[in-house]
Amino acid sequence: MKKIGVLTSGGDAPGMNAAIRAVTRKCIYHGIEIYGIMNGFQGLIDGNIKKMEVGSVGDIIQRGGTKLLSARCDEFKTAEGQQKGIEQLEKFGIQGLIVIGGDGSFRGAKALTDKGFPCIGVPATIDNDIAGTDFTIGFDTALNTIIEAIDKIRDTATSHECTYVIEVMGRNAGDLALWAGLADGAESILIPEHTDDFDDVVDRLLRGHERGKKHSIIILAEGVGSGIDYGERIEKATNFETRVTVLGHIQRGGSPTAADRVLASRLAAKAVDLLLEGQAGRMVGIQNNRLINHDINKILEEKHTIDMDMYQLSRELSI
Ligand code: F6P
Repeated sequence: MKKIGVLTSGGDAPGMNAAIRAVTRKCIYHGIEIYGIMNGFQGLIDGNIKKMEVGSVGDIIQRGGTKLLSARCDEFKTAEGQQKGIEQLEKFGIQGLIVIGGDGSFRGAKALTDKGFPCIGVPATIDNDIAGTDFTIGFDTALNTIIEAIDKIRDTATSHECTYVIEVMGRNAGDLALWAGLADGAESILIPEHTDDFDDVVDRLLRGHERGKKHSIIILAEGVGSGIDYGERIEKATNFETRVTVLGHIQRGGSPTAADRVLASRLAAKAVDLLLEGQAGRMVGIQNNRLINHDINKILEEKHTIDMDMYQLSRELSI
């Protein structure tokens, strides 16, 4: 293999730049030409492809977002879109592709691999919702952003003695909510993986008030439903002033943490190794701090699971 392409796709995640840097430098180190595909699969269809040099990825390891830009591309879900993509790759003489993104991006990688074009997936999403890896690139940074925000909100919640419902991202996964809730000592954590017992949440708030605790933080994963609706229900059931904050896209931005930069560098470099070994249709991941790789088909079929022991612990610590 002499020419490799790299793209980022789906929602951006902090650490994607560190991954692009690692792919680029690792390829150049091994004498491989590396091509950056702009705007994810849309840029692949459009032939928006640029040769990368060592300097192309200078000064980006600390930056959030993605230098290659990202997009969600419906056309690439069609056989025609995929064929156009393969034609562009062939036009540039690219022989293997590294796809940095979440499960939607991996479906694109799978489609190309099924059509005979070797792809390797690198898991990058703040949601941490990919099976076969303990962590995805961007999760740790988003988690720290959430914690910083909740710490600030807690100051106001304490000063004004009110209940706060904080809605966090995560799509259908509760990892961000669970980890943030445990790290921040939230009174209740609502995740899609566990059926919400509304009466229990209300009881906890009432019990807290009885013993003099006049402020509370409830963290709600977006996969459970609307924070605004939930806040209204809580206020109605308790009569406590209840405010709602939807943290939104600030969770996706910002400089990646050291953990995300290191994870991104390790996973991305491993993806290059796999292509050079002649592998295709694999996803790299990390389990028990060891780099592993899985069949991407298997990963797409499997459901990401949450650590329910952690959930139980959060309940025990927030009595
Ligand atoms: O997958 C990352 C993510 O930020 C999710 O947490 C969220 O549900 C979704 O993307 C939001 O997507 P968009 O930016 O397209 O609205």
